[in-house]
Amino acid sequence: MKINNTSISKKNVGEIVTLYGWVNKKRDLGGLIFIDLRDRSGLIQLVINPDSKIYDIASSLKNEYVIKVKGKVILRKEANKNLKTGEIEVEVNEIEILNKSKDLPFDLNNTTALEDTRLKYRYLDLRREEMKNNLITRHKVVQSVRKYLNSLDFLEIETPILCKSTPEGARDYLVPSRVNKGSFYALPQSPQLYKQILMMSSMERYYQIAKCFRDEDLRADRQPEFTQIDMETSFMSADDIMNITEGLLYNVFKEVKGIEISLPIKKMTYDEAMDLYGSDKPDLRFENKIYDITDSFKESDFSLFKNIINDGGIINALVFNCADKYSRKDIDKLTEFVKTYGANALAHLKYNSEFTGSIAKFIDEKIGQDLIKKLNLKANDLILIVAGDKKIVKTSLGALRCKMAKDLDIIPKDKYAFTWVTDFPMFEYSKEEERYIACHHPFTLPKDIDSLSNKETAKAYAYDIVINGYEAGGGSLRIYDPDMQEKVLKELGFTKEEAEREFGFLLNALNYGCPPHGGLALGLERLVMILCETENIRDVIAFPKTASASCLMTDAPSEVSKKQLDELNIKIF
Ligand code: AMO
Repeated sequence: MKINNTSISKKNVGEIVTLYGWVNKKRDLGGLIFIDLRDRSGLIQLVINPDSKIYDIASSLKNEYVIKVKGKVILRKEANKNLKTGEIEVEVNEIEILNKSKDLPFDLNNTTALEDTRLKYRYLDLRREEMKNNLITRHKVVQSVRKYLNSLDFLEIETPILCKSTPEGARDYLVPSRVNKGSFYALPQSPQLYKQILMMSSMERYYQIAKCFRDEDLRADRQPEFTQIDMETSFMSADDIMNITEGLLYNVFKEVKGIEISLPIKKMTYDEAMDLYGSDKPDLRFENKIYDITDSFKESDFSLFKNIINDGGIINALVFNCADKYSRKDIDKLTEFVKTYGANALAHLKYNSEFTGSIAKFIDEKIGQDLIKKLNLKANDLILIVAGDKKIVKTSLGALRCKMAKDLDIIPKDKYAFTWVTDFPMFEYSKEEERYIACHHPFTLPKDIDSLSNKETAKAYAYDIVINGYEAGGGSLRIYDPDMQEKVLKELGFTKEEAEREFGFLLNALNYGCPPHGGLALGLERLVMILCETENIRDVIAFPKTASASCLMTDAPSEVSKKQLDELNIKIF
């Protein structure tokens, strides 16, 4: 059997070994030839003497040729401390070229290639150390998760990939049925309904490393095809489920990264997160909260702010200690930024024992003292202010908070900031659909069934786990009472017939002894991204899709033959 390059060490000196791998680099020192031989485990140095009978073959080797060599392990004159095998080398006397390689489209050791080129030649890209290590990290996470959940008596159960299309959530990927012409399967957006049914089947603790598919606009942390660490439990409280998740994260971070995260993870409600950080996934690696300074302007003669307050609006501010770094032009750019979130304007103040800036003339002694106290102002503070509708003020300042921290480079590296965000709203208004939709999904247990009619304030037993500003996972307790489920579907605008048609199987199952249940799903890629310290989800997926949902290596999606379409009774217009 093949041995790993990196299993060879000083203790093997004098032994004859047979090694396989790729030529990572060849150096011809006008006599001796040195080759870095690479296999998945790493590099080992080969040396070929000028008087060797294989010298000519060695000279002909090029990068990425696949070779088999036999030789003697010897001590190096000077050790290379950067290499695991740096104390030894192999004096080769037999080489077999197993396969040649064309010249490469990019340098694997120092790539500046565009991502499109890397995706087209993904098989080469994955040979790079960084990409290989990302896949190893992903493997370790999955192994750690399985070990942990198995130890807690969870059952790993697979659920179908060809499912029933149900409304709500993102757009489905559809698969036409050949046998049932005109009918379609949907690929699962998550195993949500199946895992609930499994609880009704008395499985009690389920998990799955589940493939999910969502036809939605892609972002740096979103793929159309992604993987969830999906869990569901019966007879557990939301706190139980959160504790299990914390244990899972503790094990993953310890086993994969060697980091012991401190438990319990803090919890804040959705309302607190929006108030203080303007986001339901606050990045807590840095502080810089949003301050409410509405009261400071209630009595002022700054009519613009006063009118906004009288119309029910609010005035909020962020403070960063960087006044000297921001010119008028820079502030204009920030203004353009907050406008993309719906804000009308961005006011600013600079504090250096007195106030300067766009609204300085409205800051009298009283407001000034008030702001100094409320915002805990220090010399060189820049105060960025948005006034208006609460939702717009919070979200625009929330986005600005993250932008400023990035621009100022104040986000500490190697820091992991965890928080739970709990008590999510039951509903959210969809501008696209011009109606209220379920904020998590329509099966989420409301905190108070009697308060459902106020769509803006109704809350749910729904929680997200947030790491470094990423929504790493989300879950909820589920409705287990058929009447309550019916009521919630009605609030979402489903008629009895529609609910029956779309979710009849679930509504039926609820009538046969359904246990209280709830669960959570972690985004595997998001977790691996955080552990690999990359902001690009494609870096942690072996064969990802581009922003336009295509695979540059295989050219999927592609046209299919007329015969295939005819069989499916499909016509392309
Ligand atoms: P949710 O839709 O919040 O919940 O998804 C759970 C987690 O999956 C990850 N995720 C994604 N990762 C990459 N690309 C995507 N397009 C993508 N969409 C979601 C996120 C997210 O937190 N069934 C429920 C879970 C439950 O209630 O148990 C669900 O799917 O990390």
